[in-house]
Amino acid sequence: MSPPGSPSVLAEHPEYLSPEYTPEELPHRERDVENLSFYFENRLLRGVTPPHILITGPSGSGKTATVKHVLAKHRVPGFVAYTVATGSGVKVLRSCASEVGVRLPVRGLSLDEAWERFDSEVGGSLLVVVLDELDKMLAAEPEAPLLYFLTRRPKTWVIGLSNNYSALSLVKDERVLSSFNPWRMVFDPYTVDQVRDILQHRVILAGAQVKDEAVSMCAAVSVSTAGGDVRYALNLLSSAVQLAEKAGDHVVGERHVETAKEEVERGYILRSLTALQPPHKLLLLKGVYEQRISSPSQLYEYANTQARRLGLSVYTYKRLSEFLNNLHVEGWVKITRRGATGRRGVLWEVLPTEEDIDLVKATIDKLLTQL
Ligand SMILES: Nc1ncnc2c1ncn2[C@@H]1O[C@H](COP(=O)(O)OP(=O)(O)OP(=O)(O)O)[C@@H](O)[C@H]1O
Ligand SMILES: [Mg+2]
Repeated sequence: MSPPGSPSVLAEHPEYLSPEYTPEELPHRERDVENLSFYFENRLLRGVTPPHILITGPSGSGKTATVKHVLAKHRVPGFVAYTVATGSGVKVLRSCASEVGVRLPVRGLSLDEAWERFDSEVGGSLLVVVLDELDKMLAAEPEAPLLYFLTRRPKTWVIGLSNNYSALSLVKDERVLSSFNPWRMVFDPYTVDQVRDILQHRVILAGAQVKDEAVSMCAAVSVSTAGGDVRYALNLLSSAVQLAEKAGDHVVGERHVETAKEEVERGYILRSLTALQPPHKLLLLKGVYEQRISSPSQLYEYANTQARRLGLSVYTYKRLSEFLNNLHVEGWVKITRRGATGRRGVLWEVLPTEEDIDLVKATIDKLLTQL
């Protein structure tokens, strides 16, 4: 027992509460682990290249953890490259090359040249490429030339991951879509009970002193404000543990979670907005949150004007309306029908959903200056 006023130790292994840690077991993802393992055991090991796969699901639903877990469990008779696919094809290819031990000159290569070298080094071997956060690469380069090269290469298995269900709508080249044409695996968001269970496992692993009520609260908050994002729940729990330790308390309770919420919310909004691709989604949100524009067509006009100002490409209204619908699905805006159908068709109204409008506005501005 620590003396009053001095910090206490409430977790023997706090690192196991970190979202960076991938546990040995993934409760509630057993079936997904099994589905993916099938391709390793019943296809790759028999020398058969499985169909390409695209895994989508909300943030923190365990996509990366599941794939890493399955990769770690299986021996692959060939090369494996796991990479977070942010940026242009040549950048992503460099990262794949370094994963499989192929050396490419530091600079000066076009994608075509880099691909030629990479392909000849890998030779006739089987190649498994995991492109995590694939939507980022597609947003940076809608022609997706690297995906084209990869999917045209024999004995190559591409597993794409994205928290954007319609990630493929970012691809502009039909040839890429027809040669990628993946099987879809959709990760459902975790329920409150599932998140509670996952947290409970982590609490035991970490040897942490946390009341059941506090664990339940973290789970409930992560579902109501972050769609069941386990990363959010773990951040909340870790922050609550730290607060309780700093205060010298002997157990983590609901009041610590309550206090931790605000700080975690800030981090969450920043991360979620950073993940939005392409940046035009941020411009649409700026229109809704800052300019309070509620008419879709005026929003598209606004987003394109801002895009031009920032030197970004402009999109057709049709594509911008896809982005706006994504933002609705992802919970950033609410699109509702306004009034009856008039001569000019149905009138729609777009409204902000996030309560902390100022926080969203400030975060968008910060991200836009970083473009
Ligand atoms: N079923 C689970 N059991 C235990 N921990 C989990 C589980 N699912 C997720 N986690 C934890 O939550 C963290 C976040 O999960 P992960 O990175 O896999 O999410 P993601 O779906 O890839 O999200 P994003 O789309 O933001 O990349 C993981 O590091 C892991 O610690
Ligand atoms: Mg991930």
